Amino acid sequence: MSIFPDLFRLDGRTALVTGSARGLGWEIARALAEAGARMLLHGRALDRLEPRLAALRDAGFAADPAVFDMADRAAMRDAMRLAGPVDILVHNVGERDRRPFAEIEPEAFARLVDVDLVAAHALVKLVVPAMVERGWGRLILVSSIVAELATPGASSYTAAKGGLSALGRALAAELGSSGVTSNILSPGFFATETNAALKASPAGERQRLRCPAKRWAEPHEIAGAALFLASPAASYVNGHTLTVDGGVSATYLA
Ligand SMILES: NC(=O)c1ccc[n+]([C@@H]2O[C@H](COP(=O)([O-])OP(=O)(O)OC[C@H]3O[C@@H](n4cnc5c(N)ncnc54)[C@H](OP(=O)(O)O)[C@@H]3O)[C@@H](O)[C@H]2O)c1
Repeated sequence: MSIFPDLFRLDGRTALVTGSARGLGWEIARALAEAGARMLLHGRALDRLEPRLAALRDAGFAADPAVFDMADRAAMRDAMRLAGPVDILVHNVGERDRRPFAEIEPEAFARLVDVDLVAAHALVKLVVPAMVERGWGRLILVSSIVAELATPGASSYTAAKGGLSALGRALAAELGSSGVTSNILSPGFFATETNAALKASPAGERQRLRCPAKRWAEPHEIAGAALFLASPAASYVNGHTLTVDGGVSATYLA
């Protein structure tokens, strides 16, 4: 019996990818759709999701929107009630604040940690009960290599991502016996729209040279790792951090 590529099929599953109008979220959503999942695309505005929904539907895939700001818990609850049960959650939204520590007011720190970490906890709470009831679920939290490796000018983002990775491991410990896995996806430097200015700057060029691959990643290079964690192939992978960074975090000086 052939096990490949069935081990990577997601037929009959519903997958929500937060922040999937663009960037890494869109690439992940497209891959899960191609693997057979019914997709719930998420963002703050329906008009930004519509071209992506049309692209998936035109290719013959099932796709619906889920619209809410991560900061608005009432809107999150309403949208998730409308969406129905989710089998796979890829929580990919993560806002940045690239100012120096001295410029980040306590209120701005609290807001970023709320959107990047506290809201993730709230969303996981909404999807997990149905996963536990069905005895199958996948939680994939998109963190960052900054969760382990700090860099100047990202203190609130670093703190939030560190917490998010730790939350992923805590969920693995608590949910492991219920058929729900929880893993962390840890990207390095990806050339998404949001990173265009950084990539073009001297700091971006230093990042390129710091990476053993000597290049920034293309957004689509995250997709295979996310599909693996979502798929039957990863049935015994739990509490793991899958790093996709061209070797940055494995090396001291490249
Ligand atoms: N790119 C990288 O190099 C890199 C490296 C390490 C980690 N990561 C992590 O990977 C994830 C994706 O990164 P990316 O560069 O692809 O992100 P991005 O380009 O900033 O895209 C973020 C998406 O999230 C949505 N979003 C942002 N704030 C939101 C909020 N408050 N509520 C709801 N949706 C919100 C946006 O949707 P709308 O604007 O359409 O509403 C957008 O579709 C993030 O968690 C980031 O921290 C990225």
